[in-house]
Amino acid sequence: MNLILLGPPGAGKGTQAKLIAARHGIPHISTGDIFRAAIAEGTPLGRQAKEFLDRGALVPDEIVIGIVTERLGAADCRPGFLLDGFPRTIPQAEALDRYLAATGRALTAVLALEVGEEVLIRRLGGRRVCRTCGAPYHIETNPPREEGRCDRCGGELYQREDDRPATVRERLRVYEAQTRPLLAYYEERGLLKRIRAEGGIEEVDAAIQRVLAGGGRRG
Ligand code: AP5
Ligand code: MG
Repeated sequence: MNLILLGPPGAGKGTQAKLIAARHGIPHISTGDIFRAAIAEGTPLGRQAKEFLDRGALVPDEIVIGIVTERLGAADCRPGFLLDGFPRTIPQAEALDRYLAATGRALTAVLALEVGEEVLIRRLGGRRVCRTCGAPYHIETNPPREEGRCDRCGGELYQREDDRPATVRERLRVYEAQTRPLLAYYEERGLLKRIRAEGGIEEVDAAIQRVLAGGGRRG
């Protein structure tokens, strides 16, 4: 199963991706998590990416495409993969199409999580993330069992730099301008599955399971 999770900042991509990846035994590839890990480690990629993430801007296409195609070449992606946060521009989507065609693979489906702006702002405002494994929590809707500690790995929870209100507004603007056009791109290719994602985490998970059980092209 070769899947893409599309959706605006705060739509629940990371939250749902962890559930889908565990259920189907496929790797969850989040470009945002890759950049945050590189920034934390202070690698050259991290130093390059930081200025873009801090502003809520997109990292240049050629950097992201290189990272994702290298990751998709790893052995654990052979049975399938779940991309979260990539592609985010039409050139990224075209590069992914070319790469998959060249390696004899195809997308199974593109799941688009649909959430209104007011809910997105509430979700991002209360989000806390694990410094160690990246698992997302929310102080009201999805709190950890112990305050400030990750349920999965015991790591420390923190608030993302780009979850400050001014940066959230910029990320939403960038989504509308650069990423929303991908909905039409995948609709034209018969791959788009729209999912109403304003309900609770389990409700959205159930909707995704229904869509995946109902088919989509096989990859
Ligand atoms: P990235 O990390 O991908 O951020 P994003 O797309 O803005 O999305 P988020 O991670 O903020 O939200 P999410 O949809 O994962 O929501 P979550 O599950 O956490 O990218 C960050 C940056 O990296 C970009 O700005 C850019 O600079 C760079 N970048 C990344 N990819 C790139 C690319 N391809 N090209 C160029 N640059 C790139 O949930 C949010 C909150 O809501 C949590 O608190 C969660 O607990 C809660 N929640 C989730 N679901 C529900 C629910 N159903 N009900 C109630 N609460 C919920
Ligand atoms: Mg995320």
